[in-house]
Amino acid sequence: MAEQLRPFTVLGLETSCDETAAAIVRGAAPGPGEILSNIVLSQLDEHRPFGGVVPEIAARAHIEALDAIVAEALATAGCTLGDIDAVAATAGPGLIGGVMVGLTTAKALAMAAGKPLVAVNHLEAHALTARLTDGVAFPFLLLLISGGHCQLLAVEGVGAFHLYGTTIDDAVGEAFDKTAKLLGLGYPGGPNIEALARGGNARRFALPRPMLGREGADFSLSGLKTAVRLVASAPGFAATDAPDLAASFQAAIVDVLIDRTRAAMDRFARDFEGARTLVVAGGVAANSAIRDALSTLCAAKGFDIKKPPPGLCTDNAAMVAWAGVERSQLGLFDGLGVAPKARWPLQEDPGRGSLATGSPETRNALR
Ligand code: KG4
Ligand code: ZN
Repeated sequence: MAEQLRPFTVLGLETSCDETAAAIVRGAAPGPGEILSNIVLSQLDEHRPFGGVVPEIAARAHIEALDAIVAEALATAGCTLGDIDAVAATAGPGLIGGVMVGLTTAKALAMAAGKPLVAVNHLEAHALTARLTDGVAFPFLLLLISGGHCQLLAVEGVGAFHLYGTTIDDAVGEAFDKTAKLLGLGYPGGPNIEALARGGNARRFALPRPMLGREGADFSLSGLKTAVRLVASAPGFAATDAPDLAASFQAAIVDVLIDRTRAAMDRFARDFEGARTLVVAGGVAANSAIRDALSTLCAAKGFDIKKPPPGLCTDNAAMVAWAGVERSQLGLFDGLGVAPKARWPLQEDPGRGSLATGSPETRNALR
């Protein structure tokens, strides 16, 4: 287990998609940490008429809301800026306008309060959430399933990720959202599909399970989406069939996720002898059919499973603040010149000790 370092109190900001969020978290690696406040303002109503997130609307809404959300996070935690040790903000990946708003605000706050800045990778924030909630030790296998990502990674430390598999086309949340749109359900699609699937027959429609049994741990989901479109547009398909299609779609997703995760577990067990923890993270990890199936898989494979509560799987700032805690403890601060990034893959992080390029010494230093 990692050595316990001095606790840090960090203000985190999250603005990379359609949630404007600020949180204050106190703690030390490996966790768990204490969430002193966690304010999330969803912009759902603003985007709903368009059936998805509109980047310009998101950026403007972040500008309008963020100051008040930060003030609320500080007040709820009973803190002033003077009480915090660092300011962390999502610096990517995400919708660039929103990321700029959050990162620029964080820079201004850090400068005004004379505190260090931490530029957080949103995916790393999702990845480390299980340390915030459960104090999960490194290394662990991570299934990261969100609106923009679908990946299996071995997480060996802060900034130290091995990519085992990724989607070669759509992300899993995207597949949920597109299927929901086809079925006339509102945005975001995931929770709506999950609710509709509850009353449906998952065996009614035989949908494909792309990549099942393939070597490696990659995913492909666009064929499934096409198959759903074919069923939904076939003559005779009625609104009363929608629950069965939602259930059949969700069952196909579950089968694919389970198969790919099983393959990644075998590799992880070979790469990290003795380590047996699976963490699931990202917005789609809020889905209970997926959570239950992963628990069953872990029981069969002798893995522990850690599932952050649904409210910390979907986008929030507590995870960003926690990533800020972990990075602060390692002295991984950023200068005020750090740039926002629309694209920022986890495993391409050479300046920050990525295992893709890092030496064993770097790895140990980052553990
Ligand atoms: O992590 P997240 O909040 O934002 C990104 O970083 O992308 O993930 C959002 C995605 C959306 O595609 C949404 O439909 C999906 O997570 N999602 C779900 C559920 N709740 C959210 N998908 C399936 N079932 C859910 N219950
Ligand atoms: Zn996210």
